[in-house]
Amino acid sequence: MKQKIIITGWAWFIGSNFLNKYVLWNKNIDFINIDALTYAWKLENISEEVKNSSNYFFEKVDIRDKQKVEEIYKKYNPTDIIHFAAESHVDNSIKNPFIFTETNVIGTQNLLEAHKKFSLNRFHHISTDEVYGDIPEGWFFTESTPINPSSPYSASKASSDLLVKAYGRTFWIEYVITRCSNNYWPNQDSEKLIPHFIEFLKNNKKVTLYWNGKNIRDWLYVEDHCDAIWEVFTKAENWSMYNIGGNNEYTNLEITKLILKEMKKDESFIDFVEDRKWHDMRYAIDATKIKNELGWIPKIKFEDGIVKTIHFYLNK
Ligand SMILES: NC(=O)c1ccc[n+]([C@@H]2O[C@H](COP(=O)([O-])OP(=O)(O)OC[C@H]3O[C@@H](n4cnc5c(N)ncnc54)[C@H](O)[C@@H]3O)[C@@H](O)[C@H]2O)c1
Repeated sequence: MKQKIIITGWAWFIGSNFLNKYVLWNKNIDFINIDALTYAWKLENISEEVKNSSNYFFEKVDIRDKQKVEEIYKKYNPTDIIHFAAESHVDNSIKNPFIFTETNVIGTQNLLEAHKKFSLNRFHHISTDEVYGDIPEGWFFTESTPINPSSPYSASKASSDLLVKAYGRTFWIEYVITRCSNNYWPNQDSEKLIPHFIEFLKNNKKVTLYWNGKNIRDWLYVEDHCDAIWEVFTKAENWSMYNIGGNNEYTNLEITKLILKEMKKDESFIDFVEDRKWHDMRYAIDATKIKNELGWIPKIKFEDGIVKTIHFYLNK
């Protein structure tokens, strides 16, 4: 039977980078791409070569719509799913939390229900390190770190992780879950830190940094994340979970200074502003499991990736 993978949430950042590589590499697999095309989408993120490929299919579907989700399963008879779709911006989740529960929790449950009804194989759920909450210096998140989300976004992602695990236990859904750190590189929405700051500086505007800018994130080049997803999707045991991270811890202030230096601007372009309501101090992933079990390690050094990223946005 031909493998047919549903990809949700392909139309913006990580999903589009994933498709641009893996549709062309796997002409024998059909990719059925569904997305609600919310505010966060751009069809031009998908290369023309991919769009014209005979194994690429697109349907506009809101995963909150259970009936529509089922129609797609009936129409395409898929074998597996890789589920990226989410409301993904923490600040938006503080302003309007409900849509995060609707999309990230109910939307995921609609997909799990369809998966159960149509007896599919793998359910790959894309999650985030933010489900762990924050962690003090010297410690790292492992796959057994208890979840302790801080924002409505991370709570909705943690809830969807739990639903996936529960459907695995109760209904034998063959899931895998990956939890990744912060991604960077092209096709990212300009509401996110790196493209947002570059765009402001390009227009000679000051960037606004929360509090003292000392919050730490672990950064990973998006293509490394996509490769890790493919490794887990194709090789991991059912009912397993993997952390994915780049071991690149930087404070937001350090990232800002890197961007300023590359754009030949000084620190007078930084405005320190009132902090986000509860701002996790530090995320840090221990990615030993995926390295030891599946042999995945990041290929792109942060120092190189960030410079390429800055120039991509400058030339846009
Ligand atoms: N960006 C990161 O650094 C990062 C890190 C770790 C994990 N993740 C996870 O990876 C996944 C993708 O993140 P991203 O940064 O590419 O997000 P994004 O916001 O750039 O893209 C999300 C996509 O989901 C679609 N979508 C939103 N609501 C939908 C709905 N109701 N029905 C169908 N489609 C809908 C949007 O149209 C968009 O194309 C998310 O699950 C996120 O939690 C992101």
